[in-house]
Amino acid sequence: MRLFGSKPEPPATEPTKEQVIEALRNVIEPDLHKDLVTLNMVKNVAACGGVARITIELTTPACPLKKKIEDDTRSAVMAVPGMKEVNVEFTANVTSRMGVDRPALKGLKNVLAITSGKGGVGKSTCTVNLAVALAQMGARVGLLDCDVYGPDIPTMLGLKDKPEGTADRKFKPLERYGVKSMSIGYLVEEDAPIVWRGPMLHKVIEQFLKDVDWGEIDYLLVDMPPGTGDAQLSLSQLVPLTGAVIVTTPQDVALVDVKKAIAMFGQVKVGVLGIVENMSGYTCSHCGHLEPIFGEGGAEKLAVKYNVPVLGKVPLDPKVRVGGDRGAPIVVADPSSPQAAAFREIAGKLGQIVAVRNATPAGGLPVLE
Ligand SMILES: Nc1ncnc2c1ncn2[C@@H]1O[C@H](COP(=O)(O)OP(=O)(O)OP(=O)(O)O)[C@@H](O)[C@H]1O
Ligand SMILES: [Mg+2]
Repeated sequence: MRLFGSKPEPPATEPTKEQVIEALRNVIEPDLHKDLVTLNMVKNVAACGGVARITIELTTPACPLKKKIEDDTRSAVMAVPGMKEVNVEFTANVTSRMGVDRPALKGLKNVLAITSGKGGVGKSTCTVNLAVALAQMGARVGLLDCDVYGPDIPTMLGLKDKPEGTADRKFKPLERYGVKSMSIGYLVEEDAPIVWRGPMLHKVIEQFLKDVDWGEIDYLLVDMPPGTGDAQLSLSQLVPLTGAVIVTTPQDVALVDVKKAIAMFGQVKVGVLGIVENMSGYTCSHCGHLEPIFGEGGAEKLAVKYNVPVLGKVPLDPKVRVGGDRGAPIVVADPSSPQAAAFREIAGKLGQIVAVRNATPAGGLPVLE
């Protein structure tokens, strides 16, 4: 009730959608160093009764900076006069640089080779766990087993069905844990010896890329055979690789081989996204002490020498092997283990590095020749 003689209250101004958008111009994407509006990441804005609803489209669902972006958005928009509540939702549209000139590879947004200079360092283990971790985060993930000499992916994913054919004479990839996969192991008998000559191998990899009905894939992770041979060369000729992930163990002998692997990809102009140090120390199950049985600091030395990031370190634990042997990757079998946490962290960093690379005109990856 208004008392006689008192001034009328000014009409309360509700914050408008335009004010919210203006506020979002103050939120800087930490990796790309531009604001969310300029980067076209703001997909939906509504403001009603002092409540703002904002949808932000990320460049990867695995974005480790999601929380920071959400917090920055909330504080910028809460600064609008009269704002009472801010609701932020995220979607993701993974970026790609595959180009439009390769219709046969349509749908494959980013192809990442998981490789190493030396055998047995954990490439296949990393490939499977990173693929499942990315899928758990909401990405559309494919896993291509290019280790046609010793395909381990069927065992590690617990799959042995024969892939079905499609109406347009392609193979349907097998799917488990949200990951679509293809392996020569699905097509030949388990104990059949596999001997490929270079040109045959090339043809098989080509068919795996073009004659498999992958559909829309944000990240195709490719498990490579060890070393720097025909498979690496064929893959890099057949598809514009987003980059290579090098898996190593901390021993000096493994690190020497890493150099060869980096140099080999450099020769075919494929950049290195980062290094994963696997089996990096053993945590005692009795006292929790971390023992660096294979040495330490090797990955950091490489990172400095070749200017590539260390994506993460995965400690040794028999559970990782048991999970692999049983077709239950540790990110599924024991998600609260330090190994699963390490794989999720690496997956997030990979998503982030790929997004930055795709937004950088020259590719932004070190190539060592
Ligand atoms: N962090 C870990 N802790 C314990 N065991 C591991 C770990 N990483 C891998 N392993 C085990 O080490 C062995 C080799 O791993 P994996 O097969 O992934 O290596 P790879 O590099 O793919 O080998 P290859 O060069 O023969 O293809 C496997 O038995 C696997 O289960
Ligand atoms: Mg392997």
